[in-house]
Amino acid sequence: MYTVGIITSSDKGYAGEREDKSGQVMKDIVEANGFKVKKYIVLPDDKEMLASEFKYMSDELGVNLILSTGGTGFSVRDITPEATKMIIERDAPGICEAIRWYSLQITKRAMLSRAVSGIRGKTLIVNLPGSPKACKEALDFVLEDIKHGIDILLGEAIECARK
Ligand code: MTE
Repeated sequence: MYTVGIITSSDKGYAGEREDKSGQVMKDIVEANGFKVKKYIVLPDDKEMLASEFKYMSDELGVNLILSTGGTGFSVRDITPEATKMIIERDAPGICEAIRWYSLQITKRAMLSRAVSGIRGKTLIVNLPGSPKACKEALDFVLEDIKHGIDILLGEAIECARK
């Protein structure tokens, strides 16, 4: 079973002023797809706090996948991609490129997503947009292929077998 950590980046969510619907949507989708959620946390849009949680989930919890939601847009407080870039060791841009390509066909606003994806140790990290709708659309599109990526990362799939 694959393991996953979920991080919601939201000042309002952290302050208890907004219910975190996106985190719940992500949890439901990954669980329905055979992932075990090892930790789920709501954090403010704070670069150091986000980076240290990414590190903790990767280095201490050893999750296969970390999904973040929120903080990928143009607001002054949006800082999730920068926090992610602080801790990833290898870029894996194709996942966010695929999400943007797919999402652009739903809304041109997807061009405003600054989300990034990459690898730290044996953990794949993917930023998703903030809205529950966007999270669902993006995850439904990439999750199956993410699993194959994790298999390769773990050395359990030798080749990139194409479906
Ligand atoms: N992607 C999908 N699939 N569906 C959407 O509705 N909305 C976008 C976008 N990506 C959207 C999407 C909008 S409106 C913005 S501003 C950017 O992602 C950044 O989102 P964030 O600031 O909530 O992280």
